[in-house]
Amino acid sequence: MPLVTFSNPEYKDKTVYAVAGSHTETLLKLAKEHKIPVHHDCQDGECGNCVVRVSSVDNKQQRMGYHLTDKEQTVLRHLGKLTKEDIERLALDDMPSEWRLACQMIVRDEDILVEY
Ligand code: FES
Repeated sequence: MPLVTFSNPEYKDKTVYAVAGSHTETLLKLAKEHKIPVHHDCQDGECGNCVVRVSSVDNKQQRMGYHLTDKEQTVLRHLGKLTKEDIERLALDDMPSEWRLACQMIVRDEDILVEY
């Protein structure tokens, strides 16, 4: 069962939530369920309001690659978070992007820190 820690400098406490490993839940859905005020609007990978920084805090296993959807790649490039080269390198190395859209990222079996 992965632990997802949401962190924001405006909120002093970090909050840790245990997640049932359904592997179908987006980060945004999880945040909303727990009343974490992650910005969002379209909830469909279009607006970029839900951009978050994700890092692994899981020492038990190697980092897993995450698939970025085409929409997510487009928006993250538009926001200046990733370049075309970054995206190609991540895909080639099967590594996760530190920048994600919370409405597109499916929570997987890995402990992560989410900065929003
Ligand atoms: Fe619009 Fe996620 S809420 S891209």
